[in-house]
Amino acid sequence: MFETERKEALMKPDRRATSQSGMGIIQDTGLNGLPRIVLTHSSGASVEIYRHGAHVTAWKNEGGENLLFLSRESRFERSHPIRGGIPVVFPQFSDEGALPKHGFARTNEWALVKNGQLSDGTVFATLRLEENPDTIRIWPHRFALEYSVRLSDALAVRLSVTNTGDNPFRFQIALHTYFQVADIRLIAMLGLRGIELVDGLRQNVREKETRERIAFEGETDRVYVQAPNRLILSDAGHHRELYIEKSGMNDVVIWNPWIDKSVKMEDFGDDEYQRMVCVETGNIAVPIVLSPGARWEGATKFSVGSE
Ligand code: BG6
Repeated sequence: MFETERKEALMKPDRRATSQSGMGIIQDTGLNGLPRIVLTHSSGASVEIYRHGAHVTAWKNEGGENLLFLSRESRFERSHPIRGGIPVVFPQFSDEGALPKHGFARTNEWALVKNGQLSDGTVFATLRLEENPDTIRIWPHRFALEYSVRLSDALAVRLSVTNTGDNPFRFQIALHTYFQVADIRLIAMLGLRGIELVDGLRQNVREKETRERIAFEGETDRVYVQAPNRLILSDAGHHRELYIEKSGMNDVVIWNPWIDKSVKMEDFGDDEYQRMVCVETGNIAVPIVLSPGARWEGATKFSVGSE
């Protein structure tokens, strides 16, 4: 649990729904009966979180626009990750190991351990995942993940990993955020010039990014190693900029499946690549090693401005 939350929490209701001056936390069931949490801020902004994967599936601003992409083909089933929103990737990135792709955090059900409202009006929920017989079977380690989702005029998420076992373990971790964009051909990523990248579509060749504005003209799958902590996603079609600020997380991945891969993905619409881009923050290139009792923490904050 995070220190600031412990100190600042004004209420920690366990009731199914609370509401105060238009702010609130509702626990109910979402699609296919999966447990869901909805946070609403006094501004009218809201966040929807599924306990399946601790998956943020929607973040709406005060005007009700969803800033995150969620595929219309997404499955909401316990055995499958949700396609869109913010999948939590742990303890393996992609297929860089023997575990299921992107690990198991996104297909396990997390517990809601705390929720409330801070003195500045921020509404939050904290979810937790520990080892269980299924995770032990494929990854023989004891751990505790905590994920705090805070909604104010921004969306701030904080993730921690504690080694609760007796042996060290290694992990990769990422927030695989899908942004909703008006038109993939009109967006640009800013802030990555001069950064070393590993291109997953060209046998992991390493090179330096030369572009100030990275446009998307085809399938893209790149890890930027030791990326700056502040990046901008320019979405000209929506006349807005998204600001991504990370801490404790070294790398950034940009991903868009484009045409052929979209067709092959059964939980993604063939044309949906045009309206999304993933900008992922995490520790991917160099896995983290945690000794028994040690704790790692990283965070990412998302906010929006007009272009
Ligand atoms: C990205 C990877 O992070 O996730 C891609 O770099 C991968 O290689 C993509 O295709 C989506 O993965 P998944 O398992 O959600 O289809």
